[in-house]
Amino acid sequence: MEIIDGKATAATIKAEIKAEVEAIVAGGGKRPHLAAILVGHDGGSETYVHNKVLACEACGFKSTLLRFEDNITEQQLLYEVARLNAAPDVDGFIVQLPLPRHIDEQRVIEAIDPSKDVDGFHPQNVGCMAIGLPAFISATPKGILELLRRYHVKTSGKKCVILGRSNIVGKPMAQLMMQKQGGDATVTVCHSHSPQLKDECRQADIIIAAIGSPRFVTADMVKPGAVIIDVGTTRVPDATRKSGFRLTGDVDFENVAPLCSAITPVPGGVGPMTICMLMQNTLQAAKKS
Ligand code: GUN
Repeated sequence: MEIIDGKATAATIKAEIKAEVEAIVAGGGKRPHLAAILVGHDGGSETYVHNKVLACEACGFKSTLLRFEDNITEQQLLYEVARLNAAPDVDGFIVQLPLPRHIDEQRVIEAIDPSKDVDGFHPQNVGCMAIGLPAFISATPKGILELLRRYHVKTSGKKCVILGRSNIVGKPMAQLMMQKQGGDATVTVCHSHSPQLKDECRQADIIIAAIGSPRFVTADMVKPGAVIIDVGTTRVPDATRKSGFRLTGDVDFENVAPLCSAITPVPGGVGPMTICMLMQNTLQAAKKS
């Protein structure tokens, strides 16, 4: 059994990006600039955005964090998005999700200029990705494909089961895994209302778990030799930790790991790759502009 080390892979990729950035700057080019909008004080979002800022530093990017309180109106937020769309110095930006309930998330996403939408959430990018046209590909599925590629996991013709159908992970992951230029796999998407979910998993060569339910994938659901990708990051209370919680994946790692040929841990698997792919998208945006 091989542990797919997302942390180490992400460090390698960030070093590759940094080298490319320094070469661009040495040649008189522009340093990439990522901006992030953070609304409110959600603990998970604070951590993600902080890590994105740190990743910018590691890659030699400029970063700008715009913080707003929970009571920002939708109109004000749309105004901030419009300002970033028009800012010539900003190559790409993200609006950290979730947003407060009084704000229409989809409306905000659709207000982002697709050429600066480094999260790849705008319908134009989602649509282009789905039919294999150039697009910003959302970071989590892109990171998973990159991990599979760098660990030489054979995906072509394999049976891949994706657990979860979210817009951020499940749906784009399914598109990418089925595409000829992507995973070239046979893909099944299962969700909370799939009656044969366990049977589907047992037949899978690759399981990508993104349902946000701690330890959902148990040993009896896994074919020996399967490859397991765990996207789950649920905060579970843990009094022994200084933070008071620990991150728990969607896979019962302890009992599943001995069965499979390769598996991603939580933390240190998909998570670090996600941020790293956001950096790749930002570099791509900066090269275009
Ligand atoms: N919230 C959880 N994941 C993400 C992400 O990848 N991008 C943004 N903007 N918000 C998120």
